[in-house]
Amino acid sequence: MSTRGLILAIESSCDETAAAIVERGSRTLASVVASQIPTHARYGGVVPELASREHLRAIVPVVRAALDEAGVGFSDLDALAVTSGPGLAGALLVGISYAKALSFAHNIPLVAVNHLEGHIHAVLLHERESRLSTDLASAAKEEKNSAPEEEEEESALALVVSGGHTHLYLAKPAHGSWSYSLVGRTLDDAAGEAYDKVAKLLGLGYPGGPWIDALSCYGNPKAVPFAFSQIKHKVHLGGEPPRTKAAKTAPIAALDPHFLFSFSGIKTAVLRYVEQNGLREGAEARLVETLAHPKPVQTREAALALCPQPVLDLIASFQRAVVGDLMKKTFAAAEALGAKRVLVTGGVSANRELRERLTREAERRGIRAMFPTTALSTDNAAMIATAAWPRFLAGEFAPEDLSADPTLALGR
Ligand code: KG4
Ligand code: ZN
Repeated sequence: MSTRGLILAIESSCDETAAAIVERGSRTLASVVASQIPTHARYGGVVPELASREHLRAIVPVVRAALDEAGVGFSDLDALAVTSGPGLAGALLVGISYAKALSFAHNIPLVAVNHLEGHIHAVLLHERESRLSTDLASAAKEEKNSAPEEEEEESALALVVSGGHTHLYLAKPAHGSWSYSLVGRTLDDAAGEAYDKVAKLLGLGYPGGPWIDALSCYGNPKAVPFAFSQIKHKVHLGGEPPRTKAAKTAPIAALDPHFLFSFSGIKTAVLRYVEQNGLREGAEARLVETLAHPKPVQTREAALALCPQPVLDLIASFQRAVVGDLMKKTFAAAEALGAKRVLVTGGVSANRELRERLTREAERRGIRAMFPTTALSTDNAAMIATAAWPRFLAGEFAPEDLSADPTLALGR
């Protein structure tokens, strides 16, 4: 066994088959992501059976590619890591079964990782890699310690905002490992789910987030006044878990209603607006176009050719409202809990408006806003290897009977 601190991680919780090799949770040697977007795009969402089939096809070549890219073999690895949940059961099982087989065949310990913890660690990985490159640059200039070693000892508020989750956690570091407490969450749809559903009903491609992100700058964000009402106490008095496909968590009655999200209302409001303003007709024709050209359009001319101005205005207004709501509740929680750092992660954290506005508002409040790189925002395995590192050091290995837990919760 090597002493380089190399972890090979596998991620297969949804529609990306990914493998990565990360050194000591702070330097990526390889990160390979095989996307299934073309398979699911024509259905406008992930089809679980197709996802499992595609993972089965991709898993071996993806792991092989990661080893080749890093220039290492199995004997160089200190541990394997795999996402054990939350996610699609069949999809998770492909990654888990392969990781267990590799662990057994090569006698390498296996660490099980919660996908949500992985997303949080994507921010930390990016932070450590940026620090490393600053250190190297200043060492090259022979400056000593120009970047102060800011250790991650302060609690941070983490917003995990993706296609399956919109969760707020207080993340507390302690001697290298982390603990989490759930602070807020969505009662129904995740923000990414709302992006995907709105894009679908407007005849845009899948996933919808990148399309809405690319088109929103061509519309008037004040054209359609969407509003989010404050969640009332009575909504969650029963303490029942919310009806989402995401992770099971503690009863939401315990959570402050100011930190609860709800995105199903805005999706219905967009649908109503589309119907009342005769915008439905264009959607079907647009779908043919967007399926033929799967990349979001990037110029005003292309946006106008695809969507008339009222649709662009609707898109811009939708995004303005969602970003505003995410910011409002995130900052409310950060202030209430005295967090001086906000980590924003998950697929929706790739959104340009969210990054710009949240960063500006954080500066105004004296809070540090941290995001992963765009590539690390969406699902990848480098974040899983990073989250596995402190668990590996603590000797927290997966049991032999490790199985998929589609509703695995993070923290308390
Ligand atoms: O984290 P992720 O890759 O998978 C899950 O764990 O769900 O997130 C995927 C979600 C999708 O809903 C997608 O539409 C959304 O992230 N997304 C975006 C952007 N890029 C991806 N949403 C808004 N703006 C983006 N640029
Ligand atoms: Zn994810």
